This record gives sequence, structure tokens and C-alpha cells, in this order.
Amino acid sequence: MSRRKEHGEYFLGDDPGKIDLDMVHAFLTRSYWSEGISRDLVARAIGASLCYGIYGPAPAAGQVGFARVITDVATFAYLCDVYVLEAHRGRGLSKALVAFVLGDPRLQGLRRFMLLTRDAHGLYERFGFRPMADPSRCMEITRPGIYLSQREVRPETPPRSGDPPA
Ligand SMILES: CC(C)(COP(=O)(O)OP(=O)(O)OC[C@H]1O[C@@H](n2cnc3c(N)ncnc32)[C@H](O)[C@@H]1OP(=O)(O)O)[C@@H](O)C(=O)NCCC(=O)NCCS
Repeated sequence: MSRRKEHGEYFLGDDPGKIDLDMVHAFLTRSYWSEGISRDLVARAIGASLCYGIYGPAPAAGQVGFARVITDVATFAYLCDVYVLEAHRGRGLSKALVAFVLGDPRLQGLRRFMLLTRDAHGLYERFGFRPMADPSRCMEITRPGIYLSQREVRPETPPRSGDPPA
């Protein structure tokens, strides 16, 4: 049973069937953290995550925000891909979204909830997130720019026979 919460004229929801893949891909592929990510990869990530949307005022009620949680729904969760479309910012929507995510019954009692952010620490601090107490315990393999390099090697839409050469 999916959850839903009103926020002024907007509403938040966790129904995976309502996520607008084109809208999410259009934003993420231009974001600083996943520049160049393909639509297929976004679809795979969404399919294997808990996803949350913000939907705009009726009658159009299109999606205007998104967040994704990678989790085992038992011990650990990682919050990512949080955004609100520019025209809808400054109305408390991201705060409502983070509160909605943290209130998800599937994400209670976890040992660790993580996220990475370049400059939105203030947003998350109000919900209890803190810089890692001992970063020396944390290790990573990171490949910045991997989506851009994949795009060069493997074009998203292969040319059909009969297409003029690029
Ligand atoms: C960050 C973002 C989601 C905020 O969305 P929003 O709906 O406009 O935010 P809200 O109206 O809920 O307010 C956010 C609060 O966090 C604070 N904040 C802290 N860091 C912030 C940041 N980098 N950007 C925006 N707000 C930030 C704001 O000052 C505000 O606090 P206030 O209510 O005390 O004034 C939005 O600006 C966005 O999508 N940015 C581009 C994508 C991005 O950077 N996402 C975060 C990745 S970790």
C-alpha cells in the first residue's frame, strides 16, 4: 500500500508506478553527480530502489521532485538523487520530501543511513544527519565521469540503418 502526503497544493508519494522516468532522467543526466547517465541506467536504478516523488498542483499534477533510497530494508540505507525542479524550489518541498522518506515504515530501525552532498548539508542536518564521525573508517571506489565515458563508448540510441551519418 503506497503512502501519500499533501504539502500545500503538492503531494508526496512513494508509488513506483507514478515515477516519471523521462523527467527523472532529464534532471539526473544534467546533475553534477550523475552527468551523462543514460535513461536505461536510471530505469535500472529506479527499479532496484525505493523511490519517492513530489507531484505538482492539479490538474496537470506532473512530477516536480524526486528522491531515491538504496537499501536492504533491514540494516542500511543510502539516500540519493534528491532534487526539486527549479520553478518549485523555496516552498519547503525538499524538507517535506526528506521527512517523508525518513518516515517510511520500511526504513525504521536501520543501523546506518548515509548520503553524500556537495552543499546541502544544512538541509539534512535538521533531520539528524551529521558528517561522518570517523572518515578514516570509510573507503570507496569512485569513478567520477563514468556515465560520460560510457556514453562515448556506447551510444544510447544506436543509429538505425538508413540514418544519415552523424
Ligand atoms: C537542494 C534542493 C533539493 C532544495 O529544494 P527546495 O524544495 O527548494 O528546498 P526547501 O524549500 O525545502 O528548503 C531547503 C532548506 O535547506 C536549506 N539548504 C541547505 N543547503 C541547501 C542547498 N544546497 N540548496 C538549497 N537549500 C539548502 C535551505 O536554506 C532551506 O532551509 P530554510 O527552510 O531554513 O530556509 C534544490 O535546491 C535542488 O533540487 N537543488 C539541485 C539538486 C541538488 O543539489 N540536490 C541535493 C543533492 S544532495
